Amino acid sequence: MGRQLTIRNLVLLTALFFMGNTKAQLLEKAFSNAQQQDKNMLLVAKNPATPPRTTNPDGAISFCPSIYDWTSGFFAGNLWYTYEATKDETLKNEAIKYTEALDSVQYYTRNHDVGFMLYCSYGNGYRLTHNEKYKDVLIQGAKSLCTRFNPKIGVIKSWNQSRSWDGKTRFYFPVIIDNMMNLELLFFASKVTGDTSYRHIAITHALNTMKNHIRPDYSTYHVVDYDTVTGNFLHRETNQGYANNSTWSRGQAWGIYGFTVTYRETGDKRFLETAQHLADFFINHPRLPKDKIPNWDFDVNQLGFQTQFKYDSTKYKEIPRDVSAAAVAASALFDLSKFSGKKGLAYKKAAIQIVESLATNNYTAELGTNNNFILKHATGSFPHNSEIDKPLVYADYYYLEALMKYKQFKK
Ligand code: GLY
Repeated sequence: MGRQLTIRNLVLLTALFFMGNTKAQLLEKAFSNAQQQDKNMLLVAKNPATPPRTTNPDGAISFCPSIYDWTSGFFAGNLWYTYEATKDETLKNEAIKYTEALDSVQYYTRNHDVGFMLYCSYGNGYRLTHNEKYKDVLIQGAKSLCTRFNPKIGVIKSWNQSRSWDGKTRFYFPVIIDNMMNLELLFFASKVTGDTSYRHIAITHALNTMKNHIRPDYSTYHVVDYDTVTGNFLHRETNQGYANNSTWSRGQAWGIYGFTVTYRETGDKRFLETAQHLADFFINHPRLPKDKIPNWDFDVNQLGFQTQFKYDSTKYKEIPRDVSAAAVAASALFDLSKFSGKKGLAYKKAAIQIVESLATNNYTAELGTNNNFILKHATGSFPHNSEIDKPLVYADYYYLEALMKYKQFKK
């Protein structure tokens, strides 16, 4: 009996060793790949004021048109994460340059994206270097973001534009689900200043998003437009999804991430339950492909969903995927699993499955290809015929973030 147990334990230990090894090997390979791709990218991307974003239709690399583009902070963030994982000082020096090139973003008030731009660049920079100047930039950025908060409606305005993407709808106070991602900057600002007003705005925004952006089945609307006089919502539609009533995959992932952060920062169970329901919708969706990398929208080609854009379903043999949605979801699910007790096992499993899929050749580009972005097969905005099946700098960012969380995760 004793001997049998010993043999069984040995088998178990060997299995565990190989399982652990597989994880270590995956992380080692993925970060060494990222280190190399980042270095290749740096040879091409020579100006920190126009960081890389994607690939143009002609195959050439495309840079951010301006530092006020919502994606401008992600390359700096990629460099910070890759530096953190590899301790490569060259990447740290470049991360500093790409971060500090965004200095004036702290005063930018023309859209809600200041959270994305600053928290991924300066936020990671501050976390890793404790540079007090970075903290000041983040606080000023939070102040700028708060100028867009309307206390009557209780939300932060996303865009200034007065028309929907197709010109058909007039917007008064549009708020998109993506906006949940900007709240982390506000929670940070309250923690480091002791001023609770930032946090109050973040919580109020999250409560109203919970009320108005989420459908009874816990799928999400992309855009909710509000009436500035009554404070009520006027209409709900999509900008980057398939149809007004469909579920845009990245939007759903932004929601999972944003509500998970809001729970982490508040301990308010309503946010945890919301994050869990949104996550359940995503990971249990019957149309989530086996490898857990979603189509760009969950409802493409489905009955009952009518596009508002010219769409030819025969043009694509397979529905384009979106690795950015997968990466955002994976990063959020690792955190959500820690807060979810037994239920958390399913979130952890899904996060690992996503990361393992992304690390395969199906989605990770060969070194020196893909314009030196790490991941292939992201979708920026299908209705705008923009960045379809292309690399996207933010897909790489959330993938690296998810890898870091996987690394820190106890087996
Ligand atoms: N916030 C823009 C996007 O997710 O595409």
